[in-house]
Amino acid sequence: MKREQLPIPVTLPNVNAHAKRRARLAKSLGEGLMLLPTSPERTRNADSHYDYRWDSYFYYLTGFREPEAVIAITLGKKPRHILFCRDKDMEREIWDGFRFGPAMAKEIFSFDEAYSITELERLIPSLMANCDVVHTPLGADAEWDQTISRWINSVRAKVRTGITAPVELRDVRHAVNAMRLIKDDVEIDIMARAGKISSDAHIRAMKTAKPGMFEYQIEGEILHEFMRKGARQAAYGSIVAAGSNACVLHYRENSAPLKKGDLMLIDAGCELESYAADITRTFPIAAKFSGPQRDIYELVLESQLACINALKPGVPFHKYHEVAVQVLAQGLIDLKLCKGSLDKVIATESYRQFYMHRAGHWLGLDVHDAGDYMQQGKSVKLEARMVLTVEPGLYIRPADNVPKHFWDIGIRIEDDVLITQTGNTVLTTSCPKSVNDIEALTAG
Ligand code: GLY
Ligand code: MN
Ligand code: MN
Repeated sequence: MKREQLPIPVTLPNVNAHAKRRARLAKSLGEGLMLLPTSPERTRNADSHYDYRWDSYFYYLTGFREPEAVIAITLGKKPRHILFCRDKDMEREIWDGFRFGPAMAKEIFSFDEAYSITELERLIPSLMANCDVVHTPLGADAEWDQTISRWINSVRAKVRTGITAPVELRDVRHAVNAMRLIKDDVEIDIMARAGKISSDAHIRAMKTAKPGMFEYQIEGEILHEFMRKGARQAAYGSIVAAGSNACVLHYRENSAPLKKGDLMLIDAGCELESYAADITRTFPIAAKFSGPQRDIYELVLESQLACINALKPGVPFHKYHEVAVQVLAQGLIDLKLCKGSLDKVIATESYRQFYMHRAGHWLGLDVHDAGDYMQQGKSVKLEARMVLTVEPGLYIRPADNVPKHFWDIGIRIEDDVLITQTGNTVLTTSCPKSVNDIEALTAG
């Protein structure tokens, strides 16, 4: 049966792109056996499960979203790509929905072979025989580590029959991380769309937030916009923080009432087709910025723009964190929130009273995406097709050394940036961040 004729009631990713990545990985690993499981389903309470989310490494290499699946690739001159997945089961499909089953999954996802997941125990030890190296995630899941050991031991138990057992385990994630760091066209297209949907959600929040509402209602508006545009979930728990809550970096309570003129910090991004967006905006609730709010906001924005300006191929990853620190520290001195020369404020890290996190991270299938930051003791250099966030902020808690008018101001501005051949493109550029553009929405 032709692929187009198969009756599939689920949306498919660009399966060719996933298969190509798998082939590239097989080539780069050389010899041995590659084994990669997807994530297990997890119980939330009683017999309810958390919404299922497949493992990002597994998805990157397959596009396959069902639980209880493992890929095996026999490496070498002519690699065999093998999928183990759930059987078709009409009874379960009546209750829970469609399953591909091995035969259809093999066709659709371009595997050489596919078997029932119930065959895993029987077939993996035979695939491991005579392989020196097993490439698999190490230390990611205790149960998987034990399973790998058990399989290796079962091969060892038969060495007198003339086979050899693996002598080396290598963490396959290291090789996949390097690939995931450089996004292909399919990924960039999805991430640009995820950025646009997330921008729309922030705009909706800016327009909707009014005194008397609660933070969770704004969270609801954001999720509504995500879903309305086809992104069924947030990529991470949305931070919707009004007033002093904005100074709690990972605030998740999202239950406080909104007061006119207070700032609201929202860190929220959708997950679209398994890819994360990650945007933070801070705006005054149904008002214009007050003087002190505006002073801090303009400073954070200046630092964020300086960071983005510094992003281009060849620049070490950590450079933009230094740029953020430079601009913020100078601004804090100018606002009399830090004392001493710029060099002293940076050397003593006194700015950390107000800026205590890093300027950003890789972004992709995971919000804090896979990929090294350091290699051989040096900061990784930026390359075209990397995607990262730029998210400086200032968080001013009440303290004796802080004038009262700055108390409880928490501001972060975060965008998603694609490195290009010549510089960069901001994927979340449609989300307003100038004072004027924000006030047009909040005080309009
Ligand atoms: N929302 C997670 C982060 O900004 O890193
Ligand atoms: Mn964020
Ligand atoms: Mn982030």
